[in-house]
Amino acid sequence: MPYHKFDVVIVGSGGAGLMAAMQLSHKYSVAVVSKLYPTRSHTGAAQGGVAAALGNQEEDHWQWHMFDTVKGGDYLVDQDAAEVLAREAIDAIYDLEHWGLPFNRTADGKIDQRRFGGHTRNFGEGPVMRSCYAADRTGHMILQTMFQQSVKNQVQFFNEFLATDLIITGGRASGVVAYSIRDGDVHTFSAKAVVFATGGYGRAWRITSNALACTGDGMSIAYRSGIPLEDMEFYQFHPTGIYHVGVLLSEAARGEGAYLLNNEGERFMMRYTPSLQELAPRDIVSRSIVQEIREGRGIDGQDYVYLDIRHLGAEKIREKLPDITDFARTYLRIEPITDPVPIQPTAHYAMGGIPTNIDGQVILDEKNTPLPGFYAAGEAACVSVHGANRLGTNSLVDLIVFGRRAGKHIAKMLDSGELDYAELPANADERTKQMISRIRAGSGEHAETIREEMRDVMTEMCGVMRTEDKLQQCGAKIAELQARYQNISIMDKSSSFNTEMMEAIELGYVLDCAEATVESAAARKESRGGHFREDYPTRDDKQFLSHTLAYRKDDGGVKELRYKPVVITEFQPKERKY
Ligand code: FUM
Repeated sequence: MPYHKFDVVIVGSGGAGLMAAMQLSHKYSVAVVSKLYPTRSHTGAAQGGVAAALGNQEEDHWQWHMFDTVKGGDYLVDQDAAEVLAREAIDAIYDLEHWGLPFNRTADGKIDQRRFGGHTRNFGEGPVMRSCYAADRTGHMILQTMFQQSVKNQVQFFNEFLATDLIITGGRASGVVAYSIRDGDVHTFSAKAVVFATGGYGRAWRITSNALACTGDGMSIAYRSGIPLEDMEFYQFHPTGIYHVGVLLSEAARGEGAYLLNNEGERFMMRYTPSLQELAPRDIVSRSIVQEIREGRGIDGQDYVYLDIRHLGAEKIREKLPDITDFARTYLRIEPITDPVPIQPTAHYAMGGIPTNIDGQVILDEKNTPLPGFYAAGEAACVSVHGANRLGTNSLVDLIVFGRRAGKHIAKMLDSGELDYAELPANADERTKQMISRIRAGSGEHAETIREEMRDVMTEMCGVMRTEDKLQQCGAKIAELQARYQNISIMDKSSSFNTEMMEAIELGYVLDCAEATVESAAARKESRGGHFREDYPTRDDKQFLSHTLAYRKDDGGVKELRYKPVVITEFQPKERKY
């Protein structure tokens, strides 16, 4: 069996994985295992910016950023993590600048900053310009910059390798198993430390901004290895996805002054959140759009409203929003300079994921017991810095801050000799080989049938608005799909670039994430941030000011839900008013 040995193996080549690699590669051997070519990672789809209180455009402080993050997350945020995020964002941005990231500039040459939803001055007084940006392709620029630096720093890339298993030996993470898409071989990687930076699982829904690759691979592998998934009920729907397509039209448009309009031409957000209007946090804006549509004020009575940027003028649109205007032309054949663009909420971002502490160490339970040698960062992880709702441009900063911290913590542990290789079991790749044989020999349905049914039921029953009845139906359907998945079949039995095999494996991952999401959502009988229960429309701090931990049964299905207290340091939970 192909076998490799590195000090550190990082799974995922997006912003978090590359940032971790950058902290280690000057001294330690680092492999990045990725199912994609690195510059195709989903970080590249992030558009509008990366938040940091640089104060380049107007007064700003990391304490204000911390407060906004906590309030935006509906007080489910762990405040020690929010402090780290807001403080360390500033240095992380300067690292990127020094590595050559082409940020937009102010007239006096500093990094330019723009407004984004929920980011305010002086603890909520009004919007502040905090998001550093490179036009509307900030994630793309981060990815290109860090990939170039990683190549320069001798990081070894295993591209087009789909991770399939985490090896745990003697109570610690000791390696990874991966399927080579190129030739179908199963490879084993031995490591002193493993980092999962595998991104989110937006492909569980029909309308999504997420790339095809976002199938929750790392979350599912961790879950199958006995590690809980935290706060999976909190999934963000971005307000402005292209109608029917889901592709993101960046909040940067609203940051630059765009309006949301209903069928009466009304800027309806003025009614819902008079102080921040279109720049309220995303959970609120998405719910407001759904409410307008339900009350018959969708455009032409349909399930969309307009994003209107016409008044910004052609020059500003071309300079600051070039990519999203092209997306509208490509996908809808609409010219945003002269016409408003149909939009609807789109599944965008997982606030939940693999639980970690503020050093990126994966934790196993409500007592925060770490699994030595195992780290997670970025969207795959739940620190929890976003709580129940993430603010726009706090995802790119999460990647770089916590990817950096995970890398630095591993370096410290390697320096002190606290992490070392473990002898791997001879059959470390056995589970993967069995899974591949089962899929090859299966006689049931093709992945596509099950995948489409999953996406429909998640969209209908576990979307922006939820009820007990819908969640129960959704949970039963996901359990049925999981059972049918066990007998899945493929037509292509070849070994080389067998994308049908890859999609079948990925479907298993995303089904696991959907299962944990629905079960966690059904148990949370309150509304908070991105989790809105029509049958329990208010927040209930007495019962639910806590994080959910969902554990899996060995043979599939949620075994139990446990709860973990929220870390509160500075800001006592209050009603969230904007
Ligand atoms: O709207 C956007 O540009 C998305 C940013 C984000 O999700 O942070």
